[in-house]
Amino acid sequence: MAAIKCIGILTSGGDAPGMNAAIRAVTRTAIYNGYTVKGVMRGYKGLVANEIVDFGSQSVSNIIQQGGTILKTARSEEFKTPEGRRTAYDNMQAHGIDALVVIGGDGSITGACIFADEYNIPIVGLPGTIDNDLGGTDATIGYDTALNTIVEAVDKLRDTATSHERLFFVEVMGHTAGYLALNGAIASGAEAAIIPEMETEVDQLGALIDQGFRKSKNSAIVLVAENPASGGAMGLAERVKKEFPQFDARVTILGHIQRGGSPTAIDRIIASRMGEAAIEALMEGQRNVMIGIQNGQIVYVPFPKAVSHTKTIDRASIDLVRILSI
Ligand code: F6P
Repeated sequence: MAAIKCIGILTSGGDAPGMNAAIRAVTRTAIYNGYTVKGVMRGYKGLVANEIVDFGSQSVSNIIQQGGTILKTARSEEFKTPEGRRTAYDNMQAHGIDALVVIGGDGSITGACIFADEYNIPIVGLPGTIDNDLGGTDATIGYDTALNTIVEAVDKLRDTATSHERLFFVEVMGHTAGYLALNGAIASGAEAAIIPEMETEVDQLGALIDQGFRKSKNSAIVLVAENPASGGAMGLAERVKKEFPQFDARVTILGHIQRGGSPTAIDRIIASRMGEAAIEALMEGQRNVMIGIQNGQIVYVPFPKAVSHTKTIDRASIDLVRILSI
């Protein structure tokens, strides 16, 4: 394989706070090591549409504290087709890009895996998603900031819930994973977390809340992971209200607010470490791996493992919400 001279960076899928810190770290580590860098706008969509710009050290000045992504992001239908990927490859060749760093979630890493296999291109992935649903890494870039946004919102909801002695169902994101709901519940002192990884009976949940109110709790907050199959917080609230009409229940859907905002120090640090590690991985000859962090250490996770959906929810965390809600 020819030596790498020019590295392209793109962000793809849902944006996540800390993506800019990652772009900065990748760019500056690459330049420090003598590579040229190109920024690909709008993820794979921009790779297909040939939206590629030169990147220098100053292209990434003053962005570590900004949410979103200066490279913009998109979900590309065209890149899912062999013709789209052919065009993307031709554009890379025309710009002299011989390796890629892809920052994104499940869909983005899956796309990287297919593209790398098809064209034998060195690609390194960075886990950029608020969902924390990628395998082989304890954390993803953006997850900590989103958790903090959830905690801030639930603290505010608790004020009004307590004043009115109400029950709130708060829907949080997470795609098909319950990490945001579960750890958001622990961090905000919520009474329960409803997550896709665990079945919850409406009467069990109702009994738990009822018991709390009887014991003189004057509010209850249930964090619900988004889940179109179950109807999310709205669907759950309807079912609970039907069986327990005595509850004065309200629903709040936090939505895309969870994707915005200045990244926390933790997200800036993991994005910086992972960004540096991506370039080091390419220099070591690593290909088709995602950078992860396990027990504080950088690890290389093969793409198939990263997107295998085998990461499990910690049983102890589920128990903790229950124990602390009595
Ligand atoms: O993957 C990040 C995420 O925010 C998920 O939590 C959510 O299900 C999805 O993206 C929402 O996507 P969109 O921004 O396209 O509505």
